[in-house]
Amino acid sequence: MSGIDLLSLLEAKAGEYVSGEEISRALNVSRTAVWKQVRKLESEGYTVEAVPRLGYRLTGKPSRLSMRDLLPKLRTRTFGRQLRLLDVAESTQDELRLLAEEGAVEGTVVMAERQTKGRGRLGRNWVSPPGKGIWMSLLLRPPVPLPLTPQLTLLAAVALSRAISATVPSLPIGIKWPNDLLVGGRKISGILLESAAEDERLKYVVVGMGISVNLDADDYPEDMLAKVVSLKMASGETIDRSELAACILEQFEKLYGLYLEQGFDPIRTLWEARSVTLGRPAVLYTPQGEVNGIPRGLDDMGGLLVDLPDGSRRTIYSAEVGERQES
Ligand code: BTN
Repeated sequence: MSGIDLLSLLEAKAGEYVSGEEISRALNVSRTAVWKQVRKLESEGYTVEAVPRLGYRLTGKPSRLSMRDLLPKLRTRTFGRQLRLLDVAESTQDELRLLAEEGAVEGTVVMAERQTKGRGRLGRNWVSPPGKGIWMSLLLRPPVPLPLTPQLTLLAAVALSRAISATVPSLPIGIKWPNDLLVGGRKISGILLESAAEDERLKYVVVGMGISVNLDADDYPEDMLAKVVSLKMASGETIDRSELAACILEQFEKLYGLYLEQGFDPIRTLWEARSVTLGRPAVLYTPQGEVNGIPRGLDDMGGLLVDLPDGSRRTIYSAEVGERQES
């Protein structure tokens, strides 16, 4: 008999008391064994209230991500079915890359409670404190040519924004090209795609996703606060991280299936509908310098189509987008 049975029993009663006698009957164990299992659940971070004559009641779940909590919520066929949950990692990107090199299957996921060297785009650090975010990397082995990998970045942004909207419907999420998710102009999540290729052929892609779920203001360096926000800070609610992680993997698997079947077109349409970049005057900080213009849409590769002041149109493949105040 394992602790999971006691947990299911308490969860099924949704916060009501279950008498020790009822539990010991249902699980066919002694009252002492029931008590021991309660202690085991508590040691895993659950809180169980024990009241004489009433019994036991589940009052809190661990803030740690656990297989026990996450697996029953997974609604995917392959994504996240191979899952490694770590207490700490330098970066989940590196952990997953090692697994990928050993032949891990597509859909394999590594998550960590905290990262000591979480990294973002353009060599930046990624703030990854313990127990409050989703710091996760997902392995893809897409049968697509190497130059099309930026499309997956855009796909990831759509998957994340749909999952967040489904989990916290009160929050209006916008995508800033290529893949930052914003709430009220502040960044709530970031995506980092790293790929490995051999002889011009794509071997695999590691999609790193960082979602600032339950972070508080004091979890961020002060100079970042004007630009970032967590789901909790923006909505006033503490979010169930495992539900959100499961939802992200579900959305990702669906959209990836659609992409493999129908190509980039449907993904482009979904991305454009959620974008906060299109139609607004912007300054694009490209490696070759600043470009002013109005982004209008995505090209077939996932590049940003920008109308320039002289009436011409240019496609940008790599840039930071900033807002431009019209004079
Ligand atoms: C960005 O700069 O916006 C991208 C941030 C990506 C952060 C995630 S957290 C999980 C994975 N591991 C990392 O070290 N980075 C990505």
